[in-house]
Amino acid sequence: MSTQLFHVVTAIAFLLVTSHAGDHHEGMQRIPGKPGLNELPAREGKPGLKADPGLQAGPPGPPSSMRGPPGKDGLHGPQGPRGERGEKGERGQPGQPGLPVSRDPELQETLKGFKHQIARLEGVLALDGNIKAFGKKMFATNGQEVDFETTLEACKQAGGSIASPRNKGENDAVFSIVRLFNRYAYLGIKRGAIPGKFSFLDGTAVNYTNLHAGEPSDIGEENCMEMCTDGAWNSTSCNQNRLTICEF
Ligand SMILES: *[C@@H]1O[C@H](CO)[C@@H](O)[C@H](O)[C@H]1NC(C)=O
Ligand SMILES: *[C@@H]1O[C@H](CO)[C@@H](O)[C@H](O)[C@H]1NC(C)=O
Repeated sequence: MSTQLFHVVTAIAFLLVTSHAGDHHEGMQRIPGKPGLNELPAREGKPGLKADPGLQAGPPGPPSSMRGPPGKDGLHGPQGPRGERGEKGERGQPGQPGLPVSRDPELQETLKGFKHQIARLEGVLALDGNIKAFGKKMFATNGQEVDFETTLEACKQAGGSIASPRNKGENDAVFSIVRLFNRYAYLGIKRGAIPGKFSFLDGTAVNYTNLHAGEPSDIGEENCMEMCTDGAWNSTSCNQNRLTICEF
């Protein structure tokens, strides 16, 4: 019997005895009980439960000569700042050449459409007499009569330049407009680059002329060239109002 159980038994016995004693008649004399048996010497108990491991880590062991296994990869860190722009790479190989326009059916169809539309517009404008084509050139007027400088500006604004006939065909084309409007027109021919000589505005020499007899006259202020209503050229001053005719 363990010591603990023995204590419990004696404690219960003590309780029973005292309560029992309280129940009975007061006057009764108590008879002392027999002395208890002497306690048996305690025997050695069972081994106790295993204790929890201690909290404190033990002292580090001697350094091992063998390398341990590699640890696991850590978590990904946050993205770093953007680096500086690298140097420009070398030029790549050229791509495959496209189909030549002459063999591209879609492009051919588009061009045909453009040509047809332009031809119709040219027809309408030509009927009006406002435009006249010769060779690769097209001459046109806006019907305005202004001085030489303003004529240059108006033609430039329209994407062309002042009419400068370089052969009979081109001269006839300009003349047809002059005749229709019955107005003189300035030509892109001016005296200046070579003293006393007339030349085209780009400086090239005049290799075709349709001058009036006795022209150009050598009067100092006549530095511009006009086409008269008969188609012949006449040197004159640059500040008169003349029909604007441009070439494109
Ligand atoms: C004058 O030269 C131009 C080329 O600069 C040419 O287009 C033009 O037909 C020539 N005129 C004559 C009459 O030869
Ligand atoms: C040629 O220009 C001069 C000076 O402007 C003028 O006097 C003369 O009448 C012009 N000739 C013709 C045929 O218009």
